[in-house]
Amino acid sequence: MDAVHDSGPLDNAQVRRIRNDFPVLGQQMSGRDLVYLDSGATSQNPVSVMESEQEFYERRNAAVHRGAHSLATDATEAFEDARSTVAKFVGANDDELIWTSNATSGLNLLAYSFSNASTGDLGAGAARFALGPGDEVVVTEMEHHANLIPWQELCRRTGAALKYIPIDDDGALRLEEAAALIGPRTRVLAFTHASNVLGAINPVPVLVAMAREVGALVVLDACQSAPHLPLDVKALDVDFAVFSGHKMLAPTGIGAVYGRSELLNAMPPFLTGGSMITTVTMERAQYLDAPARFEAGTQPVSQAVALAAAVNYLDETGMDRIHAWEASLGQRLVAGLAAIDGVRVLGPKAGVERTGLAAFDVAGVHAHDVGQYLDAAGIAVRVGHHCAQPLHRRLGLSASTRASTYLYNTTDDVDALLEAVAQIRPYFRVDAGTHAGTGK
Ligand code: ALA
Repeated sequence: MDAVHDSGPLDNAQVRRIRNDFPVLGQQMSGRDLVYLDSGATSQNPVSVMESEQEFYERRNAAVHRGAHSLATDATEAFEDARSTVAKFVGANDDELIWTSNATSGLNLLAYSFSNASTGDLGAGAARFALGPGDEVVVTEMEHHANLIPWQELCRRTGAALKYIPIDDDGALRLEEAAALIGPRTRVLAFTHASNVLGAINPVPVLVAMAREVGALVVLDACQSAPHLPLDVKALDVDFAVFSGHKMLAPTGIGAVYGRSELLNAMPPFLTGGSMITTVTMERAQYLDAPARFEAGTQPVSQAVALAAAVNYLDETGMDRIHAWEASLGQRLVAGLAAIDGVRVLGPKAGVERTGLAAFDVAGVHAHDVGQYLDAAGIAVRVGHHCAQPLHRRLGLSASTRASTYLYNTTDDVDALLEAVAQIRPYFRVDAGTHAGTGK
């Protein structure tokens, strides 16, 4: 049974009780208590989430939307209840939430659906999504590969051009350049809500207003926001949004696409097959409305049920409280790292809004060595380019080290990281004259 969470702002005492719900965090690694600071890559699961999946298999497992028997009815009910819970969590209507396996598959679903709209006679509604030479897709320089390569490939297939909004040295989008870039040729504007490297939170309303002025579709990558802050896709007025379950306390293999209902029902499907059709002849098929239209074949049912349990856990704890706690951990990280000689923090400076993560460079020590040193101290971080090579190139780095927090991290976790990072340059005997940022 999970802890009953207190009210008021989260503090270390409450977070310690939350940690009891996450068995994996009670382990030792490298002979030390595990300090898990890699939730930006994947989060841990509370007991209630694991139990929900087990309970589904013990009592409700059957093919959904296919069987006439009672067990299938039960399974279908669990599946659709899960959709309803997750849709509500992000402010969407039930029929506006499509299950996918993760955010990457969600972004590919959109890019391939737009691509299908570009290939022929799919009805007047589909023209809205068609791209061709002369059209432009705009992304940002801070995207992770999942929100970059699908658009590169869409442009390659259709002849459209890919443009990007550059960032400044502190990792903020250069909005004056965005205003100049987003114009009558822009058909799609796809950007991340919160950067997985910089921790920067992008000004969604400003960007949406620019897109609306020119009639472009807005795709929001909410991978690093849906788990960490209150998200309301309607209030943000985006056309589409994607997120991954495994970054928000759920298992791998489940994610979702939000799309405005009228758009989803006009958009051609990406994957086709069973369970997404009305009539099929040997020549052609007609498709159901969303969400079924985009859910061909057997779906990740137990994972959807588990994602709903994860969302319930987050809701019970309170997204406002989680966001505020992580923001304070993010500030503690940045201030502490910036104070260590030879460490350069990427993204917004201390005091400027950011999520609960910080990526940094330790002058003279490769990120992989930093990661190994921290691992030996029981501290799990991510090292490398974090699936954001162009962003690292822009920052003059090939790799960095990222510490990312979640609702189960205490200030002790952050302080353990800071203490260990402070020892790294002396340990590797790096010359005090080596400056952070060169990666050499
Ligand atoms: N985007 C994921 C991360 O930041 C993979 O780790």
